Amino acid sequence: MAAAGAAVAVVDVDTAGAAAVVAEIEARGGSGIARAVDVSDGEAMRAAISETVGRFGRLDILDNNASAFDAWVADDIDVVSTPIEVWDRTMAINVRGPMLACKHAIPLMLATAGSGCILNISSTAGFLGDVIYVAYSASKAALQALTRSVATSHGKRGIRCNTIATGLIATEGARRNLSDAQFEAYEQSRLVVPVGTPEQVAELAVFLVSDAAGYITGQTFVVDGGAHAHQPWYTLRDVVHPQAVQPDGGTGALAPG
Ligand SMILES: NC(=O)c1ccc[n+]([C@@H]2O[C@H](COP(=O)([O-])OP(=O)(O)OC[C@H]3O[C@@H](n4cnc5c(N)ncnc54)[C@H](O)[C@@H]3O)[C@@H](O)[C@H]2O)c1
Repeated sequence: MAAAGAAVAVVDVDTAGAAAVVAEIEARGGSGIARAVDVSDGEAMRAAISETVGRFGRLDILDNNASAFDAWVADDIDVVSTPIEVWDRTMAINVRGPMLACKHAIPLMLATAGSGCILNISSTAGFLGDVIYVAYSASKAALQALTRSVATSHGKRGIRCNTIATGLIATEGARRNLSDAQFEAYEQSRLVVPVGTPEQVAELAVFLVSDAAGYITGQTFVVDGGAHAHQPWYTLRDVVHPQAVQPDGGTGALAPG
């Protein structure tokens, strides 16, 4: 968004990481501020948004991207075994955080810009059941519902709100928390072989908050290399559909992207 001309307030619990992003923005001629904020802290979120408007004069875009990506990996299993603290913390960061940000940003968007665009980064984990990530999945489904509610309640006042549901993306968090074997296993369900990059998500994010997407709101956009575009038994296709033409002539390996 900075590359597209936006002044950006980078808000993260990772103070050094946020400062590094702002330094990169400034090195390329843009402007930004970095603030250490836990997104589940209502007063800190209100103050950061207010300070952003004070610094830049207006608020046009809110991108809710922070996620409890480290907290949930180890202990977020199923509904019986997941500690209630993990459930609560996941919901606090992934649902309460975006709700607080919308709550404090929307009045300032309308007051300073007369309109606004909100983007919530959810996940394809919000669509389907799994044997792990009960809290994370529920939180991302809730975020998709929040997106539709915000789009509906404030659409006629000039607020657009959409969500990008990503599949596996090779971010720092994913690389830190998933093994090479897990990366390879997820590859079997994708129709595009090279794992997605943060830049590929950012391309859609910038489009969705731009005027070019002015007629689009309340929607969920999937960026997952086609992993949720097919029947669940696709990965077993040489067994269940042996008559089908296999991508590689039958060995089960996927064709290069
Ligand atoms: N990478 C993937 O494979 C993948 C898949 C599906 C969805 N997503 C979603 O994409 C978004 C970005 O994920 P990522 O892969 O870049 O993760 P990441 O772990 O690399 O980045 C998450 C960021 O959130 C920050 N954060 C965590 N808790 C916070 C809090 N309480 N307050 C403020 N900041 C906090 C972290 O410091 C970090 O900078 C997330 O919403 C995630 O759920 C990612």
